Amino acid sequence: MKIRENRVLIATTNLGKLEEFKRILETPKCTFVGLDEFPQVKFPPEGQSYFENARIKARTAARQTGLVSVADDSGLEVLALGGRPGPLSARYGGPGLSDFERSAYLLSELETLGSVSRLARFVCVAALAIPDGPSFTEKGICRGVLLQEASGTKGFGYDPLFVPEGHERSFAEFSKNEKNQISHRGIALRAISAHLRKESFLS
Ligand code: IMP
Repeated sequence: MKIRENRVLIATTNLGKLEEFKRILETPKCTFVGLDEFPQVKFPPEGQSYFENARIKARTAARQTGLVSVADDSGLEVLALGGRPGPLSARYGGPGLSDFERSAYLLSELETLGSVSRLARFVCVAALAIPDGPSFTEKGICRGVLLQEASGTKGFGYDPLFVPEGHERSFAEFSKNEKNQISHRGIALRAISAHLRKESFLS
């Protein structure tokens, strides 16, 4: 299937994610647009599965705008918390918390458990939906450990708590490009980019 329209919609309202999507997917052959250009798009409530959530976000955006759309669903899985917060990461600790407050909540939960494993991983499932065409999903995982306290000012979400395997700095101390090279979102979106090239004018 050949796609004629060269605009691709990035279906996320998370500004931290939006910037990462644009950098990772960047190609001179298409223009990436955000949901700010399509305020009328309405998404159904999220469920508990990364795959389902990512696919529904991309398909909903493609159906309501007629544009090729990409989306993701992602989260932080902490071993000592049995994989929580997982797909509920954005809402962990309750609605209305800032990223900093959410990270503090997670640290306080771990503290109540005493001396437990700090192993954690970020998971991202990215989805590509083509209007009246197929959808694709791809998963990326980035393993690491959680710090005792936040460190660094870059990135978003739980980045200041997370030190990826083989490194000694938190994601919030990485440059944007460094993070994208090894991150869960970088891995998933590079695989999605290959589908985009195969399915479209990008090939
Ligand atoms: P959702 O995919 O919009 O449901 O939100 C995912 C949530 O997981 C974000 O709001 C962050 O709290 C967390 N998260 C996912 N990916 C990252 C990342 O790369 N850095 C930091 N936090 C992340």
